[in-house]
Amino acid sequence: MAVDTKKTEAPKGEESQTYTFVTVCKSDDLPEGEVQQLKARNKEIAVGRLVGGQLFAVGGRCSHLFARLGKGTLNGTNLKCPWHNAEFDVTDGCVAKWVQDSMLLKAVYDATLPAFMKRGIPTYEIKEENGDVLVAVD
Ligand code: FES
Repeated sequence: MAVDTKKTEAPKGEESQTYTFVTVCKSDDLPEGEVQQLKARNKEIAVGRLVGGQLFAVGGRCSHLFARLGKGTLNGTNLKCPWHNAEFDVTDGCVAKWVQDSMLLKAVYDATLPAFMKRGIPTYEIKEENGDVLVAVD
């Protein structure tokens, strides 16, 4: 397994965090337009390849009710959750569309869910080397 550790610049007064690139799958396992639910150092992540070839790695659980985003579908750069169709932009982790169920359900979700459940998802650095796909996790 390839391991490549780097330190990032920490804000003043805070300790730098170390991220390590770990192999998560083979390049051939990720055809364009596909996403998979994988693990990197026990962290659940959704890893995929956009149409055009760009790889991405994001948190593996939806911020709404924690569905596995690796079971979702891609719509451009948006990853659609398989449960209630919220969409997250995989380039920055931001919510692109919130829950897309009926207007009534959407109103109930909006009124009752705490803000932390409506936030985006984490993104991770990703690269390919020698036919492997590696993701940087802490
Ligand atoms: S669990 Fe993802 S939108 Fe509900």
